[in-house]
Amino acid sequence: ASELPEGYTLRPLQRSDHADFLSVLTVLTKVGDISFEAWSARYDWMAARNDEYFIVVIENDQKKVVAVGSLIIEKKFIRNCAAVGHIEDIAVAADQQGKKLGLRIIQALDAIAQQVGCYKSILDCSEKNQGFYEKCGFKLAGVQMAHYY
Ligand code: ACO
Repeated sequence: ASELPEGYTLRPLQRSDHADFLSVLTVLTKVGDISFEAWSARYDWMAARNDEYFIVVIENDQKKVVAVGSLIIEKKFIRNCAAVGHIEDIAVAADQQGKKLGLRIIQALDAIAQQVGCYKSILDCSEKNQGFYEKCGFKLAGVQMAHYY
């Protein structure tokens, strides 16, 4: 049930994914012009926290990254010092959408969240993506609020 299309592979983010990874994210939002140095510094910061930051990618048969997603583990006091997964920055390259790559990214992040002991994973999305996340097993729960600075 969790098969990728022929030739596609799901794996953790690598430092060398710089250009491809940021390019895929442009379908989601403004990314900015991030130098390899700035990318590396942030990559190293996350890599030093590899029990907290999980970033997965799917590459195609040309080894090009075409889908990405992140899971951040939040440790809490409530519920007996429980942990919650935060799913962020899910994106599939425009010409690769509709091949279940987004679903496979979510399934992979869900599996990691369960393995590390999260009791739930949550995410924020626009209304137009609600149907996608319902197909991935998520249910509408609450209202997103933001305070931009
Ligand atoms: N509304 C309703 N259903 C949808 C939608 C949608 N917007 N998108 C996909 N689906 C359905 C598909 O039809 C499929 O259903 P099926 O199993 O009945 O065939 C199922 O959801 C799985 O779809 P995928 O093929 O896995 O979707 P895709 O690989 O295209 O990825 C995604 C979906 C991630 C939303 C992609 O279109 C994308 O990158 N969009 C632009 C960026 C974006 O909005 N990302 C999400 C931001 S929210 C966040 O990051 C937490």
